[in-house]
Amino acid sequence: MEKSYWEKIAPIYETEIFDVLKNDKQGYIVKAIESFASNKKSIIDIGCAVGKWLPVLSPLFKQVHAIDISNKNLQIAEKKYTALKNISYERVDMSAKTLTSKAFDAAICINAILTSDLKKRNLFFKHMASFLKPKADLVLVVPSLESKLFSHIIANKYNVDDAKDDKAPTGKRAIDQIRFIKDGVTDIDDVPTKHFLKEELELLLDLEGFSIQTIQKIEYEWTTEFHEAPNWLKNPKPWDWMVHAKKKSPSNK
Ligand SMILES: C[S@@+](CC[C@H](N)C(=O)[O-])C[C@H]1O[C@@H](n2cnc3c(N)ncnc32)[C@H](O)[C@@H]1O
Repeated sequence: MEKSYWEKIAPIYETEIFDVLKNDKQGYIVKAIESFASNKKSIIDIGCAVGKWLPVLSPLFKQVHAIDISNKNLQIAEKKYTALKNISYERVDMSAKTLTSKAFDAAICINAILTSDLKKRNLFFKHMASFLKPKADLVLVVPSLESKLFSHIIANKYNVDDAKDDKAPTGKRAIDQIRFIKDGVTDIDDVPTKHFLKEELELLLDLEGFSIQTIQKIEYEWTTEFHEAPNWLKNPKPWDWMVHAKKKSPSNK
């Protein structure tokens, strides 16, 4: 998932890209943000896309900085939310080799760390940590590898959406898929996308200088995974991982 991919998607973003805010029916992400919100604090929305979270953040914080790798996404967001006066916009590639930024009191990063490229993910996490003040709050949402495998297992066992008719990949595609899955990378809509294990997130965030406050599932309906979800298929539902973490003070690293 490179810049060119996100620029191409921008005009059709609303129909193509899963809306986490709308599908978090329990409102757990908004509740997590509200738990540390203050009109004295600044927040950065990392990978803001077309700005779905901006109407949530703007009334809760003094200043909101919205960043994304895609110029087109930022233009759409800026045009849509002209009425929100405390938002600044900037094009930033979180996987750039070097980045400097002022430090913020809080950050959200909702389904933006998706790249299949390990080096780019490492840089993304490193920069995200550097953008935050000590004790700053982070709400991070990422695709769950456990959930993705669970969905595959259910689909194959019960032939959901005629999964048994799916052709097994061959040749280079098969080799790529095996290489990718070992790293937690599996396709969403035919695009190789990083998915995370809970334990992987716990270790990774600790090493990047965060202490985890809570880590929980954001559950979605089965219709988000399958065209024809069986009626009996209820719980557990498919999910993303949401982490609320705090940046450690330098002495606690
Ligand atoms: C699935 S969208 C999520 C958007 C938004 N956070 C939401 O929840 O509605 C992922 C966004 O991350 C952005 N993104 C991906 N890689 C990025 C990077 N390296 N630096 C900055 N933004 C990036 C994409 O351009 C895209 O807008």
